[in-house]
Amino acid sequence: MRILVTGGAGYIGSHTVRMLRAQGHDVWVYDNLSMGHRAAVPAECLIVGDLKDGDHLDHALLIHRIEAVVHFAAFAAVGESVIHPAKYYQNNLVNTLNLMERMRRHGISKMVFSSTCATFGTPERVPLTEDLPQNPINPYGWSKLFIEKALLDYAKAYGWGFAALRYFNAAGASPAGDIGEDHDPETHLIPLVLQTVLGQRPKIEIFGTDYPTKDGTCVRDYIHVDDLAEAHILALGKLQPGSAFLYNLGIGQGYSVREVIRIAEQVTGRKVPVQEGPRRPGDPAELIASPARIMKELGWRPKYLELEPIMETAWRWHQSHPKGYKS
Ligand code: UFG
Repeated sequence: MRILVTGGAGYIGSHTVRMLRAQGHDVWVYDNLSMGHRAAVPAECLIVGDLKDGDHLDHALLIHRIEAVVHFAAFAAVGESVIHPAKYYQNNLVNTLNLMERMRRHGISKMVFSSTCATFGTPERVPLTEDLPQNPINPYGWSKLFIEKALLDYAKAYGWGFAALRYFNAAGASPAGDIGEDHDPETHLIPLVLQTVLGQRPKIEIFGTDYPTKDGTCVRDYIHVDDLAEAHILALGKLQPGSAFLYNLGIGQGYSVREVIRIAEQVTGRKVPVQEGPRRPGDPAELIASPARIMKELGWRPKYLELEPIMETAWRWHQSHPKGYKS
C-alpha cells in the first residue's frame, strides 16, 4: 500500500514507519520536524512539511498516489494543553480536519488515527473497556475526542474506513537500540528515570504518594512502542469502507510509579535517587487498558507482556544515545 505517515519522524511514528517498510509498503513520512527527528527515518522517504501548508500536503498526497494515511502528527503534552489550549485545538483539531478534507478531495478514505486514553478523563473503573463514557479533563483529550467523532461521521457519510487507537503509556525502544524516545523537554516517567540513572538529573520526583492505589503512587499501563506499531499495521490491513475501529491499546497490566522506578533499578543495576512530591494536576490515579477488543477483533497480540523487557529496550537506547538523536 502507498501510505503517508504524518509525524512519522516522531517516537511512535518512526517505529511504525520502520515496520511498515519492513513489510514492503511504500511509505512517505510527512513531518515538520518540530518534534520529530531527521535521523529517526530513512532520508529517502522524508518529506519535511507542515500540516498547515495545504498546497504542500496536496502535492504529497497526489504525487505519491497515497492510498491511506497514518496520522501521528500532534502535540501530546497534557499539562501544556491546559496552559495553551489554542496550540492544541489549532494543531490537533484544525490541522487534522484540514488533512481529512484534503484526503477527501483526493478520494483517500483510509486513516489510522493516534488517539489516547486521555479521551476517557478520570475513568469510572479499570481496566478501561471501550464502552466507558469519554469525558476528557484537558484540552489534549478533547482535541483527540473531537477527531474520533469527526471520523465516525466521515465513515457514515463518506464510507471512510478508519481506526482510532487510544494509546495508554507508550514505552521502550527498538530492540536494536537505534531509534527511541527523545522529547524536548522530556516529561515522561521512564526516560526521566533512565536519565537520572545516567547522572543527567540529580533525582526523580514522584508526583503524589497519596493516591488510592496499591502503594499510593499513580498506576499506568506501559505498552511497548513496537506493539503499538504492530496494531496500526494490523488495523490498516483490515480497513474496509465504513469500518470504524475504536480500540483501547495497552497490555492490560498496571505498574505504579514506585514499581517503574524499582524495575529501572533492577534492569540498570543502579540506584535511582527519589524525592516524594505533590500530585501533578490532571493525573488520574489509575489507567489500565482492557485490550480485549482489539485482541478479539484484529488478533493483536503484544510481544512485550511485562515492563521488565520493555525497560531493557529503553535502557539500551538511552545508554547508546545519552543525548537522544544528538548523541
Ligand atoms: N511521573 C512522576 N514523576 C515524573 C514524571 C511522571 O511521578 O517526573 C508520574 C506521573 O505523575 C504519572 C506517571 O508517572 O502518574 C506517568 O507519567 P507520564 O508523564 O510518563 O505519562 P502520563 O501517564 O501522564 O501520560 C500518558 C501519555 C499522554 C496521555 C496520558 C493520558 O504520555 O499522551 O498518558 O493520561 F495523554
